Amino acid sequence: MRIDILTLFPDMFASFLQGSLLGLARTSGLLDICVTNIRDFAEGTHRQVDDRPFGGGPGMLLMPGPVVACVENVQDRMAAPGHLVMLTPGGRRLDQQLVEELARKERLVLLCGRYEGFDQRVHDTLHPDEISIGDYVLSGGEVAAMVIVDAVARLVPGVLGDEESARQDSFCGDDRLVEGPQYTRPREFRGRHVPEVLLSGDHGRIATWRHEQAVAATQHRTDTHQPSRSLS
Ligand SMILES: C[S@@+](CC[C@H](N)C(=O)[O-])C[C@H]1O[C@@H](n2cnc3c(N)ncnc32)[C@H](O)[C@@H]1O
Repeated sequence: MRIDILTLFPDMFASFLQGSLLGLARTSGLLDICVTNIRDFAEGTHRQVDDRPFGGGPGMLLMPGPVVACVENVQDRMAAPGHLVMLTPGGRRLDQQLVEELARKERLVLLCGRYEGFDQRVHDTLHPDEISIGDYVLSGGEVAAMVIVDAVARLVPGVLGDEESARQDSFCGDDRLVEGPQYTRPREFRGRHVPEVLLSGDHGRIATWRHEQAVAATQHRTDTHQPSRSLS
């Protein structure tokens, strides 16, 4: 899979992309990730990429010229254009289903915003898939892009050592349950014991217990979840 990341802060990705899972996936050729600086497509000696909003208001907006030129250049580098994702708080909210949808693409192009975001004509010209990683505001799209790269990379065949572990993770599989409690050594810690069933060696009982625990954990999460505020 190929992922292009378009950002004003390419240095932020250096150590992230060398991390154990992603570093290995890249050296083994499973993932090809390329980071491009949007500022390289700005004009003039100051290479200006942002300006004040018409009509007033706080902060600066990303100008359409450099952003659109950068996206077009990156799209033209490969035979087939990538699926263009714009990171923005108002986009569709990322969840495991959306991660799976993105992981099915052959190529992703992730566009990171900064400052007060993008001039509307970036949206209107490029028609990106607008994605948010949650209902809160970050300073830039870089961390959001890292979230997407990390979550998608886990689903690329061969990237995880143990494919079965991904299938058993929270939100995966048909029922999309969250994972129940897990235990490792020691068998007793400060008076708390590992449930007897996990030590029984009875795989059928263990599987049934785990499923019951996952259902209970999912129900608890549903019961205690505070839904986002709706418009009045
Ligand atoms: C400070 S934010 C701009 C917020 C914008 N003025 C608004 O109110 O929607 C700057 C950039 O960070 C990124 N960003 C911030 N929060 C995000 C989120 N929840 N999900 C994805 N990207 C986000 C976007 O790329 C955005 O253009």
